Amino acid sequence: MAPDPADVEAFRGAVERALGLELAEVRTGELSETLGRRARARGLAPGAYVRDLVARGAAHPEWREVTQELTICETYFFRHAEQLRAFVGVALPERLRARAGPRDLRILSAGCASGEEPYTLAILLREHGVDAGPAIRGVDLNRAMLERARRARYSAWALREAPEAMRRRWFAEEGRDAVLDPSIRAMVSFEERNLAAEEPSLWAPELYDVIFCRNVLMYFSPERAREALARITASLAPGAYLFLGHAESLRGLTDDYLLRSAFGTFFYQRRGGAEPERRAEALLPPLPWRASPLAADGGWFEAIRGASERIQALSDPPGVTARGDAPAELDLRPVVALLERERYAEALDALDALAPEAAHGPDARLLRAVLLTHVGRPAEAEALCREILALDERGAGARHVMALCREHVGDLRGAMEHDLVAAHLDPTFAMPRLHLGLMGRRAGERSAAARDLEQALGLLAREDDGRLALFGGGFTRDGLIALCRSELARLGGAA
Ligand SMILES: C[S@@+](CC[C@H](N)C(=O)[O-])C[C@H]1O[C@@H](n2cnc3c(N)ncnc32)[C@H](O)[C@@H]1O
Repeated sequence: MAPDPADVEAFRGAVERALGLELAEVRTGELSETLGRRARARGLAPGAYVRDLVARGAAHPEWREVTQELTICETYFFRHAEQLRAFVGVALPERLRARAGPRDLRILSAGCASGEEPYTLAILLREHGVDAGPAIRGVDLNRAMLERARRARYSAWALREAPEAMRRRWFAEEGRDAVLDPSIRAMVSFEERNLAAEEPSLWAPELYDVIFCRNVLMYFSPERAREALARITASLAPGAYLFLGHAESLRGLTDDYLLRSAFGTFFYQRRGGAEPERRAEALLPPLPWRASPLAADGGWFEAIRGASERIQALSDPPGVTARGDAPAELDLRPVVALLERERYAEALDALDALAPEAAHGPDARLLRAVLLTHVGRPAEAEALCREILALDERGAGARHVMALCREHVGDLRGAMEHDLVAAHLDPTFAMPRLHLGLMGRRAGERSAAARDLEQALGLLAREDDGRLALFGGGFTRDGLIALCRSELARLGGAA
């Protein structure tokens, strides 16, 4: 007989408190079956089983059985390759500089399952000649998974994303299995640990250089995730790195990190490192336009204005369209109307004339940042964007304005990065794509520029009116589309 729903709910709550796992409504059937099965195995009624489990505490062996049944342990070697590139290309070199030597590196794979993640990191260290010794710690709650990890014997399926060269170099074939090289195994230690518990010896202050905690916290309840994150944060050295899974983000959870992007992916850096953004930039592979041809060439504002004559020949003149929707609940429409007519200084005055608390709302701040870039005050605009991003790091608009500001001061690398983040945060946002395309074309990056402009063209057709008014530099939708087409034509691409 199926357990009583009240017992299932009590079990759900007990699992959440002990293991951190939030068993969603859709997993109720699974939860109920697990409860029934385990209660029978212990010769108890379901209600009595739950009470016993709670009374004995999270260290009781019965929790292992529950863990085995309820954890999701999907993993494989070289998972999310772009994050691994960021690990090798950004996190590793930076942390090696921060430490006295490679043997001081400390890397944690939190929720390592059957070991593929920490072993991948070990392979990457070896491949890049970093002799870090047994630097990597893999921890998980699931004892059966840890046993598999220690055996280090894998199926072809676990290696489906591993590059062929890595497979040949670091695995020996034994029947149908691939057995990991002992020298890689020696770099990783495994421990049974609960990320939802205090575990002071795991979370020593400022211990780790890099923590991979991918696809783990997404199964936690918000409360447990917040607690686990606090432990993770405290145990990362200032300037150290945190990699989460693709579906996970720190949005709204903490302000202790900088959101970083490189190699087409996102990751987090604990604040407090020495000038992290500039240092990281210096370590990224130099881009061909580093010499800043755009800065000499005038940049975005000049580009967009310089193109206006060509655009006029191609489309209706970029007139002023009175658009009804303000970007906020506040009535910012008069300010936006002035912005659309390129009367930036007046618009700024009008905005400043609003009540101070209104002027400090997020939309008004963003509008102010846009206006400041137009009146040639990029440093103030950038400072404002940083404030906006400190409150919400996923603000694509503020990211794009940061890109404009960076470009203004000749930092093309920074401008590209901010636009890439903006485009990633909001894939429907046309302006960062257009900006990337313009910068790319002027820098001679023809194929990348054409790709960005083609994308911008598609996005502009659907772009939100309010956002066009805010970021369109005084151009109408048609004007911007025409700009895209003419830039594409100059690249010799199909427009
Ligand atoms: C989906 S796997 C992720 C494996 C690897 N990080 C990856 O991304 O490929 C999630 C792992 O988190 C572990 N886990 C879940 N709750 C945990 C907890 N409270 N403490 C430690 N590990 C936990 C599970 O046992 C499972 O092995």
